[in-house]
Amino acid sequence: MPRKLLLLFLLLWLLFELAAAIKQLPGCQAKCGNIDIPHPFGIGTGCSYIPSFSVTCNTTFNPPKAFIGDLEVVHISKWELRIKNVIGRNCYDRSGALTTAIPSHINLTGTQFTFSSTKNKVTVLGCDAVGLIGSTGLEEFSYTGGCASVCDRVENVIDGSCSGEGCCQTSIPKGLKVFNATVGTLNNNSRVQPFDHCNSAFLGDQDMYRFKVSDLSTTSSLEDVPVVLNFAFGLQSCLNNTSGICKDNSECYEPDNGVGGLLCNCTNGYEGSPYLNQGCEDVNECEDAINNPCTDNCTNTVGSYHCSCPAGTYGDGRKDGNGCSPRSDGLPLLQIMLGLGFGLLFLVAGGSWLYWSLKKRKLIKLKEKYFEENGGLLLKQRISSFEGGFESTKIFTTEELKLATNNYDKKRILGQGGFGTVYKGILPDLKVVAIKKSKIADKNQLGQFINEVVILTNINHRNVVKLIGCCLETEVPLLVYEFVSNGNLYHHLHKIDGMATSISWKDRLRIASETAGALAYLHSAASIPIIHRDVKSANILLDHNYTAKVADFGASRMNPSDKTQISTLVQGTLGYLDPEYLHTSQLTEKSDVYSFGVVLAELLTGEKALSFKRSQKQTNLATYFVQSMKENNLSQLLQVGELNETEMEQVEAVAELTKRCLNLKGDDRPSMKEIAAELEGCRGFDRHPWLIQISNEEENMSLNTKQVDGASGQYSMQNEMMLSMNFPR
Ligand SMILES: *[C@@H]1O[C@H](CO)[C@@H](O)[C@H](O)[C@H]1NC(C)=O
Ligand SMILES: *[C@@H]1O[C@H](CO)[C@@H](O)[C@H](O)[C@H]1NC(C)=O
Ligand SMILES: *[C@@H]1O[C@H](CO)[C@@H](O)[C@H](O)[C@H]1NC(C)=O
Ligand SMILES: *[C@@H]1O[C@H](CO)[C@@H](O)[C@H](O)[C@H]1NC(C)=O
Ligand SMILES: *[C@@H]1O[C@H](CO)[C@@H](O)[C@H](O)[C@H]1NC(C)=O
Ligand SMILES: *[C@@H]1O[C@H](CO)[C@@H](O)[C@H](O)[C@H]1NC(C)=O
Ligand SMILES: *[C@@H]1O[C@H](CO)[C@@H](O)[C@H](O)[C@H]1NC(C)=O
Ligand SMILES: *[C@@H]1O[C@H](CO)[C@@H](O)[C@H](O)[C@H]1NC(C)=O
Repeated sequence: MPRKLLLLFLLLWLLFELAAAIKQLPGCQAKCGNIDIPHPFGIGTGCSYIPSFSVTCNTTFNPPKAFIGDLEVVHISKWELRIKNVIGRNCYDRSGALTTAIPSHINLTGTQFTFSSTKNKVTVLGCDAVGLIGSTGLEEFSYTGGCASVCDRVENVIDGSCSGEGCCQTSIPKGLKVFNATVGTLNNNSRVQPFDHCNSAFLGDQDMYRFKVSDLSTTSSLEDVPVVLNFAFGLQSCLNNTSGICKDNSECYEPDNGVGGLLCNCTNGYEGSPYLNQGCEDVNECEDAINNPCTDNCTNTVGSYHCSCPAGTYGDGRKDGNGCSPRSDGLPLLQIMLGLGFGLLFLVAGGSWLYWSLKKRKLIKLKEKYFEENGGLLLKQRISSFEGGFESTKIFTTEELKLATNNYDKKRILGQGGFGTVYKGILPDLKVVAIKKSKIADKNQLGQFINEVVILTNINHRNVVKLIGCCLETEVPLLVYEFVSNGNLYHHLHKIDGMATSISWKDRLRIASETAGALAYLHSAASIPIIHRDVKSANILLDHNYTAKVADFGASRMNPSDKTQISTLVQGTLGYLDPEYLHTSQLTEKSDVYSFGVVLAELLTGEKALSFKRSQKQTNLATYFVQSMKENNLSQLLQVGELNETEMEQVEAVAELTKRCLNLKGDDRPSMKEIAAELEGCRGFDRHPWLIQISNEEENMSLNTKQVDGASGQYSMQNEMMLSMNFPR
């Protein structure tokens, strides 16, 4: 009989414990099926902290399912919410015709949730797939991005590897509220393989997904990957009066989710829900007789606990301390105390001295290791062999750059993106610089990286952002560039407030011409051609008088002079990416020409390279532009302000040039040198009246070139002559 009672008691106690672990208002349901619903969430009116945290539990399902609005909730923790994902799919039959098209669409507008940018990743699966993500965040913040996945044979696709073959992944920015991904094909699905008849895209917790080849044919395992959402209350900051929100024994903090808002957290030693009226409650650390933090006697205090030793023993009584030891009665207590005291003092002093000197040594060692790993020795060697007229690369120390950026102060951040973070820095000589902290360093390409650093530091072109130096003592190399004050071309062309752009046609033509000159120089002036690989309006910086400076050589590659091309991962920005390069993975200078063509189209139309606000056929500016020219519709698309007759002619010439740059076949595109010469020629029209005659001649010549293909060589020579006349060097 007493045994049965004991069992009953244990059972009751267990139930009580379970109920206590989940903090919910009294009288409110704490579970929906298997899903815990802790406060501030709640089922039914009055149970959730705010109406938008109200959960509906639908018991028609077995087990019951929980919903917030139309989002299906799978898990709720103190800081995160996990919901079921939505898989976007495009399926094709054997002939390549589209049979199913479902976008992956999740809309969080009007909720207190945002997609976690640290935990989620977009995954695109398929053997000829491009996932395009178009979404809007808070206010005018809109975002487009994506990734492409190709594969020729199923043997090349590896489980667990999402690097572009069968599977690719990309991250999302902070603060995203609407996610909309569509999957398309690169090649009109002409590479449809028996194992691949659907392309899919989804957003989800990156730690919960490992790519399997079988995922190319079935989505069943993708459905279990939840989407992680962050939540926060309102758009207030903790500085406001938050006493109404965070209750007793809790503190307010602002999560770093890109949107703002605040959350509460129980202070150390307390637990429960910080939003409930009773606030967070004291944790009884001594409650568990076996797992408490003391070796012998544990006493709970409010917010903390106290350990003591039984009579006849001494010590701190803590399991993570030195516990309790029996006191030997032979020696007088005072002597032991004194001895212990001095011994301890000595130990502490000696120990900390040893610790600090070891730590310092370790730090120096680490710096040396990074310096070596990052190719510091190689760089030093190269620099010493590169003397003669060139300004040498400065190698900065970690301390110098720490000082320059005020210890990487958040306020100094100029830009942030997939490539890393750029800080504004001030050197001891008061020179303002931009310091780029890259995200990852690919150890295999260090040799190339060093080459690039050396070549870039020695490039002295007024339209290329000058690399001043670098720091190799950190895990990832830091690059120091000259500071360009007026933002980038993208921001000037696509003003967020929707206002018409303020750059005049004359400035735009000059920017185009300067950029082309810089790229032509990179392609031809250095002993090994440098291909930029990521030409886009966001990478063209402008200084105070709108002089263009080409930036971001993070992706650039030397073009190996023998044409045995290594096929590396296709890299670049969607909307600017050369379709030929995308298919063949063969990198040539002509890919830069294509991207530059897109920039020209942007300059002419004021439209973004990729915009989901346009209809589907017009999403991609390059195709939209070429199509409009074919249909003689270009004038509708142009947005260059009011122009005089000469300027109108210039616009026409540039549009024609743009079309040639956007040629799908790389071989049919003009070279960067030809483009630079042509643009410079165009500018000549109205700059120097005495040049008009030559310009007219040149126009005749360009007509000729259209008829006779082989004449282009001569044509560009003519233009080069003009160039040297315009710029006496
Ligand atoms: C529960 O789900 C079923 C099936 O989707 C639906 O018909 C029903 O209206 C839902 N009930 C509630 C209370 O939302
Ligand atoms: C793509 O292939 C399908 C089926 O073969 C065809 O109907 C469609 O016209 C093709 N589209 C393009 C742009 O070539
Ligand atoms: C998202 O939802 C809000 C309101 O629920 C709606 O106004 C908005 O148009 C939706 N956005 C998209 C892109 O569907
Ligand atoms: C999602 O993007 C596709 C492709 O641009 C578009 O057709 C569709 O309307 C978008 N869906 C929503 C709800 O915005
Ligand atoms: C909170 O404080 C900030 C400045 O500290 C202020 O701009 C904002 O309006 C305040 N919000 C509320 C709701 O009081
Ligand atoms: C802060 O808010 C609490 C509760 O909402 C209110 O009682 C208190 O007066 C407010 N304090 C100030 C300084 O506004
Ligand atoms: C909230 O409190 C817990 C436990 O005290 C702690 O682990 C966590 O880091 C805290 N979170 C923040 C954002 O302060
Ligand atoms: C544990 O310590 C408390 C307070 O210091 C004391 O009242 C209690 O008798 C001690 N219990 C044992 C078993 O030593």
